[in-house]
Order: sequence, then structure tokens, then C-alpha cells
Amino acid sequence: MQVSKQLHKLGTETAFAVSAQATRWAEKGHKVYPFHLGDINLATPENIVDATLKAIRDGYTGYCPANGILPLREALAHDVGSKRSVVYEPSQVSIQPGGKPTIGKFISAIMNPGDEVLYPNPGYPIYESQIEYQGGNAIPYGYVETQDGFDIDLDRLKSSITDKTVALIYNNYQNPITAESSIAEMEAIAEIAIENDLWVLADDAYYEMIYEGDARSIVSIPGMKERTIILYTFSKKFAMTGWRVGGAIGPEKIMNIISKLNVNAESCTTHFIQYAMVEALQGDSSGTDTILATLKERRDAAVAGLNAINGIQIPTPRSTFYLFPNVNEIMKHKGFNRVEQLQVGALENANISFCTREHFGRPSSDETDYFIRFAYSGITTDDINEGMVKLKEYFEFS
Ligand SMILES: Cc1ncc(COP(=O)(O)O)c(C=O)c1O
Repeated sequence: MQVSKQLHKLGTETAFAVSAQATRWAEKGHKVYPFHLGDINLATPENIVDATLKAIRDGYTGYCPANGILPLREALAHDVGSKRSVVYEPSQVSIQPGGKPTIGKFISAIMNPGDEVLYPNPGYPIYESQIEYQGGNAIPYGYVETQDGFDIDLDRLKSSITDKTVALIYNNYQNPITAESSIAEMEAIAEIAIENDLWVLADDAYYEMIYEGDARSIVSIPGMKERTIILYTFSKKFAMTGWRVGGAIGPEKIMNIISKLNVNAESCTTHFIQYAMVEALQGDSSGTDTILATLKERRDAAVAGLNAINGIQIPTPRSTFYLFPNVNEIMKHKGFNRVEQLQVGALENANISFCTREHFGRPSSDETDYFIRFAYSGITTDDINEGMVKLKEYFEFS
């Protein structure tokens, strides 16, 4: 019996392999410092849990509309629109089981086999996987390291556009590299999209994981709302990664296609959770304030710990819960030429587990720098402090 010929094009999140390695190491009796997890070890706020239990008891346990219940579409249209200075109608929202489903459904809605889609690399690995699995050509664009963080390599991005390019995926605030567009960069991306008549997937998974100041969205630039589909997720802000609830927001024509895909894939997103999400968006926000404050404290501890290591220097990112240090100096010091050597070495010598650049899309052949990615969402501040001391010893040891 056969399996599909398309399967070799389907990628995965190879970061899960790092989790498996860390688990095996912990099973041998070691205390592992888990910097690899993009998951959150904090509890979902109580008012959301209570609203969920109430919705179950109130009997919202059957099917609901494929695009989501109206009260949640109204609440999300209002919340997302008001935080981006645009107006969305409930008909422009399609509720999803998480943020991730919007990636594959967006591509199904707008791409034909042979079309080209631009995507960030290093970036969330599912972009590359879904574009290629659905028969498209995944065209990477990269970033240039600066003193303050990373800028999109706009020249390369522009020169990658052909008459087959149909869409651009834009993840601002970015996993894994924590990049944040300046106004000028965001306007340049918008100009490219408008000039070339591209659809844009604005992956806003970290739009509200901002520790200082306000977030800025590409949809608020004139000419963008009508060509942009926003990926929204409840996973991060509300510490709800395992609940699986999010949404796609954008032009009604695309939402109708996405909702038809919902019917085919999962019928509807879990009914009772949707009532609780109205509470999440409109109820008491003290639980989410605490989550953000805790993550900020962890960020500061992790940045300080990394900057105390000879050979590493990173700015403090304003958003996400990742850090993406350049480790060229450490690689040289250790005499390594594959970043995986450093990752395995840190686990086996210092009990520190982290991902590397290689887990976030296929590296291009001209990349010469080495990067690793730390997540501080799944580890306590005390363990960050303790772990960073061990990491320093291992990285500086010759
Ligand atoms: C950039 C980015 N987009 C989308 C997602 C998917 O989010 P969810 O867990 O809600 O499916 C993630 C999750 O880590 C992410 O980092």
C-alpha cells in the first residue's frame, strides 16, 4: 500500500527533536535548563478557566458555526481592529484551532502550484513546509544583523520578486530572531506588496508580547488592509498554547474560503472555549498583565546572563520571548564548525538545552554566521540565572 508522493515536501518543527534530546538527558538524572521550549510554563488566567467551565456547564458542547460563534467574531474584530487603528467586521474573522492553521489555510486560499511565496528565513518553519507541501516555491528572505537587532534584507527581498510571486509572509515581531520592523522598514514592505499586488500574511503571533511601548501593524498602512490576512492566536498572551484557539482576520472573500477549509478540516473550533475567549478579550486582564510582567523579568535575567559571557553581545529585544545571539566567537573558541556541536555540547556538559538557527528554515548557502535561539517562556527566573552561570562556564572553557 502506498503513501502520498507529496509527503517528502512536508516539513516539520525540528525543534521538537531538541525537546526529545532534552527529555532523554533529563531521564538520565540530569537537571536540564529548558531554553528550547517556545511553550509557556505559566497558568492560564483563572477568569478564562472559570468562563470555560461555565460554558461547558451551560451546554455549549455541540458543533458551532465553522467560522466561529458571533460573539467571539465580534469581540475579536473589535479587539484586533482597535489595536491596529482599522475597522474589522465579524464577517472578516474566521476562528481557528490555534494560530498555526491560518498559515496552511492562507496558502490554500491564495496559491496555485508553481506560484512563489516569500517567507522569512530564519523563521517559523511551518511557512516553508506548507508552501512546498501545497506545490508552491518557497522563496526565503533573510535579515541583516545590526547593533540594535536585525533588519530585513530588503534588497534581497526585492530582487527575489518575479511574475510568479503571489504572496509575502511577514512576521513582525519575529520568532526566532526577535526582529522588529522600524516604521521605514514596515512602509517599505507595504510598498513592495502594493507595487507587486501581493497578498500578505501578517503573522501577529507576538503582536501583544511587547514589554515596552506600543505595537505597530502593517494593516494600518493605507492599501494594506485589503491585501492582508492577520494570523491571530490566543496561545501566547493568555498562556494557552495547548487550548488551541486563534483566528484569521482579513478580507471577507478570503475568510469565506478559509471557513470552507474549516468545514473540511475540523468542522469548527471547540465550541465552549470560544465563549471563554470573549471573557479573555473583554474581562479582567490582571492575569495577562502578570504573565507579561513575569516574562519581562525572565527576559532581563536571560539578556544579562548572555551578555556576561565573553564573546556574546545582544541588545534587549522589546518583544517575543526569544533571544537569538550570534555565537561566532564561541564557535571559534571551541573549534567547532557545526552549530549542532555547540548545542549538543551545552546539553551534555552544562545541562543547557537550546535550539539553533538550523531549526528555523533551511539555511541559505551564503550564510556564514552561527546563531542559537533561547526561549525564556518555559523556565523560571531562578533557573535562568543558575543556567546562565553554567553556560558561561561551558562557553568560556577551552
Ligand atoms: C511565529 C509563529 N507563528 C505562529 C505560531 C503558532 O501559534 P499557535 O501555537 O497558536 O498555533 C507560532 C508558535 O510558536 C509562532 O512562533
